[in-house]
Amino acid sequence: MRDLINIMDLSTEEIDSLIDVANHIIDDPEAYAGKCAGKKLATLFFEPSTRTRLSFEAAMYELGGHVLGFSEAQSSSAAKGESVADTVRVVSGYADIIAMRHPKEGAPMVASMKSLVPIINAGDGGHNHPTQTLTDLLTIARKKGRLTDLTIGLCGDLKFGRTVHSLIEAMSRYEGIKFVLISPPELDLPSYIRDDILEEEGIPYVETTDLENVIGDLDILYMTRVQKERFFNEADYIRLKDSYILTPKKLAAAKPDLSILHPLPRVNEISVEVDEDPRACYFDQALFGKYIRMALIMKLLQID
Ligand code: NCD
Repeated sequence: MRDLINIMDLSTEEIDSLIDVANHIIDDPEAYAGKCAGKKLATLFFEPSTRTRLSFEAAMYELGGHVLGFSEAQSSSAAKGESVADTVRVVSGYADIIAMRHPKEGAPMVASMKSLVPIINAGDGGHNHPTQTLTDLLTIARKKGRLTDLTIGLCGDLKFGRTVHSLIEAMSRYEGIKFVLISPPELDLPSYIRDDILEEEGIPYVETTDLENVIGDLDILYMTRVQKERFFNEADYIRLKDSYILTPKKLAAAKPDLSILHPLPRVNEISVEVDEDPRACYFDQALFGKYIRMALIMKLLQID
């Protein structure tokens, strides 16, 4: 039985094959309509979500399966003091696969040790978000036609942004990748990513606070929201929240074939005028999340 806790749980061959399946689903969704008939997905969301939970649910419905679950800790027995381990042990008797989001880093890992069915980490605190990364990789593969030889700018909250951490881990395994890390010093990358991955693997990267200075070098610009819910102090959040706002004016200096990604939700960091720019990929990206999750559910349920 396989879980997906960290993106590195999948080999690059497995990721490539998930991307192939997702592309095939996009071309021929009918062919997948009954693949998960009779199967149940439980979505256990102890933290807010729109895209991740609803795309998981839509994915399972499109595969002909069923969905059960909760969308806030307050409506589950967590509010009565039940442990994650107990909740998961019980729910794994009701469902064939579980997608779980939790504010505590490592909670899905603990869940996987108690579960009788595969666990998918749908985001754990400021740590990891492997299914967003699969979404991001499918988006990059479709928009750029490759996952190699790319200069990737990551902009915003690199400290608490779990999607950034998982994306760096995943992209570090491909050839010819360079990272440009754009953040205020207070929100720079944690050392378990910078030292243990980038330095350790000798992957080229530069760190800067200035988006406009580097925007012309980028093939991918991955914007992120400042993660309000992870701050200890509201004054710090207010001071940092509008550090970067992408506007058409700033994009004037960017490459014509830049791809702008954002895991969403957006707050202020991309002005709505940018949505009309053909380089804006974030709404397609959110849609692709459903297809890659269909591919992932089938893989973990061992359905061809
Ligand atoms: C991200 C998350 O939850 O980490 N959103 C998502 O899953 N699409 C990014 C964010 O909340 O900023």
